[in-house]
Amino acid sequence: MTKWNRKYGEAGTRLFGDAPNTLIATQVPHLHPRPQTVLCLADGDGRDGTWLAQQGFAVTAVDLSEVGTVQARHHDQVAGVTVHRIIADLADWQPPRTQRWDLITMSFLQCESAVRQRVVQQVRHWLQPGGYCLIEGFSSQGLTANTEGPKDSDLLYDRETVQNWLEGLIIHLCEDAQVELDQGISHVGTGHVIRVCAQQPT
Ligand SMILES: C[S@@+](CC[C@H](N)C(=O)[O-])C[C@H]1O[C@@H](n2cnc3c(N)ncnc32)[C@H](O)[C@@H]1O
Repeated sequence: MTKWNRKYGEAGTRLFGDAPNTLIATQVPHLHPRPQTVLCLADGDGRDGTWLAQQGFAVTAVDLSEVGTVQARHHDQVAGVTVHRIIADLADWQPPRTQRWDLITMSFLQCESAVRQRVVQQVRHWLQPGGYCLIEGFSSQGLTANTEGPKDSDLLYDRETVQNWLEGLIIHLCEDAQVELDQGISHVGTGHVIRVCAQQPT
């Protein structure tokens, strides 16, 4: 059984809480033009995808974990929403050639750098003109600090590197911040995160 299937299987509750990611919840209401379609990358057991669908968006979500996705579908059903959930590895997943989204979110995809680079560099091909991208993840600043997040540099984000991966997009926000996390049973306490809001030029 893969690491994420085991984690979701053992959690007994939504692993990162029921509330959506803070960056997504605070930025989405201010995006202009208002998105209609959302691609939620690495949505796990679905806290962001469910919330985005509750806001009225047409949501597609992708995650590697079958167990997390089954749990996400259950939460969608309880919330009375529909999310198009796809179980796939973002190392090589490709949407249909002509499909584009108004908003792409990616919260806490903590996997090897090569996969994250590939995904972030694909964002420009998967966004509509004027579409937005929101990314949050643990930063390399946390490596030396006694804070939340992985202690393997290959799993962590570096602000300047991500900015380079997003070349061609308009960067509205790209910060590396120390924050207080209160997300379910897993991300609780002080953490260093990068938070990004970028936009495809029109
Ligand atoms: C820290 S969890 C975050 C889940 C969710 N975004 C949230 O914040 O609640 C990381 C997620 O990334 C997924 N993941 C890791 N590597 C992946 C890959 N190569 N392709 C797709 N999903 C992946 C895992 O299955 C897991 O659900």
